[in-house]
Amino acid sequence: MKRRKLIAGNWKMNLDKDSAEKLAKDIYEMLYNRHIEEDILLIPSTLHVERVVDKQMVKGKKVYSVGAQDVSRYEHGAFTGDNSADMLSKSGVEYVLIGHSERREYYSENSTKLKDKLKLCYKYNLKPVFCCGETLPVREEGKHKDHVWRQLRQTLKAFTIDQIRNTVIAYEPVWAIGTGKTATNDQVQEMHNAIRWWIGKHTDKQTADSIRILYGGSCKPDNAKALFNCPDVDGGLIGGASLKAADFLAIIEAAQ
Ligand code: PGA
Repeated sequence: MKRRKLIAGNWKMNLDKDSAEKLAKDIYEMLYNRHIEEDILLIPSTLHVERVVDKQMVKGKKVYSVGAQDVSRYEHGAFTGDNSADMLSKSGVEYVLIGHSERREYYSENSTKLKDKLKLCYKYNLKPVFCCGETLPVREEGKHKDHVWRQLRQTLKAFTIDQIRNTVIAYEPVWAIGTGKTATNDQVQEMHNAIRWWIGKHTDKQTADSIRILYGGSCKPDNAKALFNCPDVDGGLIGGASLKAADFLAIIEAAQ
């Protein structure tokens, strides 16, 4: 089955309002006149979501979708600092990162919290980009597949086939994020294949064949093509290299 690739730029806690707006504008201009076969997703800070949404269709053609980096596990109410799924959805957000390793590590996001967030994403028609991946010690022990399967089992297993079908998975080995150390193509293909196998086992063949699995972790213009050529890689979740329009464009081109 041919899956449409998704190239997502995770801007993390970078860029002030003017530079976020400029980057969105530059990406729009670069993509506007091209025939792009991939889905493009920009994931700015929640503070800048609406500005980036405002730039996604300035000349009548929508060039990218907008995502959020996180969502509250609560639906509404007295949760100071949180943004609800309803708020994000009504601000034009279409995708939400769930369980990025930085949130798992610095904000103690465990599977109970992630399940609450996933539930609200599905309720408010937000597509979750569910992040998983092992740390270096886990890989060195040879337990990387078991680790990722456990992350999937502890969260996604609670949801229906239709909900899982509406999910994007991002495999991001923690040791490759922001380190300049990319997993080899063989390591990436092995893990993506293992994730697809797990999805098939817990849903059905059609879901396993159609679900998109992105690679993330030091994906750059010079290694993107080889990574995207792996049969089970359906695009990338790009951090550092998504902050420069030219680099992000080069990565999009590598997917074509
Ligand atoms: P990186 O980040 O491309 O800077 O390694 C990827 C991510 O954390 O999503």
